[in-house]
Amino acid sequence: MGGLACRRVEPTGVGGVCACAMTCAAVATPPFPQNGPGLRPSFDGVDLLLLHRATPPAQLLQHMDKLGRELQSPPSETESDAWVEETPEVAALLAPESLNLWDFDLIKLDQATGGKPLALLAFALIQSFGLIERLKIDVDKLKKYLLAFERLYNPCLYHNPIHAADVMHAFCFLLRKGKLDLELEPEELLIALLAGPAHDLGHPGVNNALLIKQKHPVSVRFPTSVLENHHASLAEQLLERPDMDVLSFLDTKPDGPSRKVALRQLLKDLVLYTDMSLHGKIMDTLKEKEDGAATLDVKEPAERVVALQALLHAADLSNPCKKWEIHIQWTHAIVAEFFSQGDLERHLGVDVTPMLDRTLGCGRTSQKGFFVHFIRPLFITCAKVLPFVQDTCEM
Ligand code: CMP
Ligand code: MG
Ligand code: ZN
Repeated sequence: MGGLACRRVEPTGVGGVCACAMTCAAVATPPFPQNGPGLRPSFDGVDLLLLHRATPPAQLLQHMDKLGRELQSPPSETESDAWVEETPEVAALLAPESLNLWDFDLIKLDQATGGKPLALLAFALIQSFGLIERLKIDVDKLKKYLLAFERLYNPCLYHNPIHAADVMHAFCFLLRKGKLDLELEPEELLIALLAGPAHDLGHPGVNNALLIKQKHPVSVRFPTSVLENHHASLAEQLLERPDMDVLSFLDTKPDGPSRKVALRQLLKDLVLYTDMSLHGKIMDTLKEKEDGAATLDVKEPAERVVALQALLHAADLSNPCKKWEIHIQWTHAIVAEFFSQGDLERHLGVDVTPMLDRTLGCGRTSQKGFFVHFIRPLFITCAKVLPFVQDTCEM
């Protein structure tokens, strides 16, 4: 940390010294605030947007019902959403000098777009790789597809369109830094980019374990990677609609149909590996390379997919690697969402998962565990086996 104070100070550190896994010596901040009404919504000088929010059990049950309906019939377009207007403020936020920053502030973009950050950001990112011209993508179909994504996200505290946009942004940043975009066929790159906004589509704000426990129809249809299969399936179903067929530029090519099948499979393979229960599998594959002192050969199709899966997964977990003011908002959002599921479990009369129980703690311990056991090892290993992203991952 080069003598700089660590911004991820673990307040339980002895004698005010940071007890985080990094080798730093920083002064501890005040304790992580309790979640609950009547408490000051700020931490470490940062206003917290979500500290006091909770999703009531009734609303989570509605999300779960909607999940069941989506499962029975593919989403049909009933509304014809207009493309979001790009105000000067939004245009400035989406300008390359802002868009190419690691610490791009999605929460600011959300506010500037009146709560619709996903479609605009996704379009700007796809454009930034020159894909619309290179592939001659039908812009109307792309816009419809992205608007449908925006609409299919529920207003969850964490798993909302802002998170989807954030993950797509971080993924693009890592791809570009890793020069991986240069190794992909343009249509492969397009599908990889779309996996970002697709990766949590229709998320109800509760986890796979509860859906399995409740025998929700989605868990009967997809017994493993329950939600991830559902996210991928929704994205695929939309892609099959003629008015959202973003891959229609392949129709005139002799191998068009088989290429479309392969690209849909790639979309699925990327979204499925955002399942945290597959984290160990990704790590094992990366570690195998690392142990052999080798790097991933991204010219090799199978290894290229592993590289994309690892980077999308890293992007999904990247919020604690952002600057403190951004990270703390996401942390409170995820903890608030976890506690809302805990409230629902109590409401349903099932055992409340300890990590989701607001009466047991304030989320600090789970945050430290998450950082030390998942995020840090993933980013360190990615840096070793994907040399181009080394600087970014070490940062
Ligand atoms: P999801 O985005 O579906 O996939 C990655 C998961 O990691 C995410 O859901 C959360 O369940 C979890 N996650 C992400 N960020 C954090 C965090 N800061 N603390 C704890 N869990 C997190
Ligand atoms: Mg997910
Ligand atoms: Zn996610």
